[in-house]
Amino acid sequence: MKPVVLVTRKLPDAVETRLQRDYQPILNPTDTLYTSEQIIEMADGAAAILPCHTEKFTSDVISRLPESVKIIANFSVGYDHVDTSAAKEHGLVVTNTPDVLSDATAELTIMLMLGAARRASEGERLVRTREWKDWSPSFMVGVQMTGKRLGIVGFGRVGQVVAQRARAFDMTIHYHNRHRAEPGIEQGAIYHETVEELMPHCDFLALHCVASPETTGLLNAERISLLPDGAVVVNASRGAVIDDAALIDALKSGKLYAAGLDVFNNEPDIDPAYRELTNVFLMPHIGSATKETRDAMGFRALDNLDAYFGGQEPGDRVA
Ligand code: DGY
Repeated sequence: MKPVVLVTRKLPDAVETRLQRDYQPILNPTDTLYTSEQIIEMADGAAAILPCHTEKFTSDVISRLPESVKIIANFSVGYDHVDTSAAKEHGLVVTNTPDVLSDATAELTIMLMLGAARRASEGERLVRTREWKDWSPSFMVGVQMTGKRLGIVGFGRVGQVVAQRARAFDMTIHYHNRHRAEPGIEQGAIYHETVEELMPHCDFLALHCVASPETTGLLNAERISLLPDGAVVVNASRGAVIDDAALIDALKSGKLYAAGLDVFNNEPDIDPAYRELTNVFLMPHIGSATKETRDAMGFRALDNLDAYFGGQEPGDRVA
């Protein structure tokens, strides 16, 4: 008997084809966003759940999952939507999909930097609404990325690729990470032991740390005050790492030149103040949204399921 897998969202066709070949999947062709109650009910008899970050597995949800469920194989690198301690307590295996989305997320990060610095939202709106009337030397002037200092908080897989891409813009890379990287990985990037030490060196600041109790609200008013005046902040990790009120204040006051945001607290009901600001470039959590990457994420989640049901340790086990 092939194991039953509850798949919470519509996945790429190639991934669903492989799922149908190797498992008994319960698919979601209408891509309905299920409630926790529905997931608990639908998982009855399933050996695995293949969710996205849109489904929350709190300790309460985990404690109410049917006993048939043995593994949560996430279609995401982030797994802050799963209470991993509760999962461990209940003997549930949890996996994620690292590596395969680093390029796509780094591309999006560069887009956020350019979009924020070159006022892409404003410019596009002017063209679309026919409000574009003229050209002049003072029209739509932004700031340049080339040659500036980029500070990266979280020098993991995505942070490292962002550094690599930013070097093509002749940027000097500064970073903070829990542990200093090997020289071969640093490639000249300058390490700062604390976030506070990093801040004054960031003309651009990119956040690439995982969301955890330690990083919640990491970019707060105090740290923003340490950034150079006119800095640009971008975030393609998780909304939780930003204190929205502090960022919004700094964007309003002009302390920061602009921000580029792909992720938010309480998505998709983001702080409405962001929508009113002209100096933010906003994207709807699409860091990994390329065809290539979404296929690869699905295959990686399936590799983890294959390993688990084949009696091996899944390569991307996080709990
Ligand atoms: C991830 O993989 O963590 C992306 O944010 C999509 O969930």
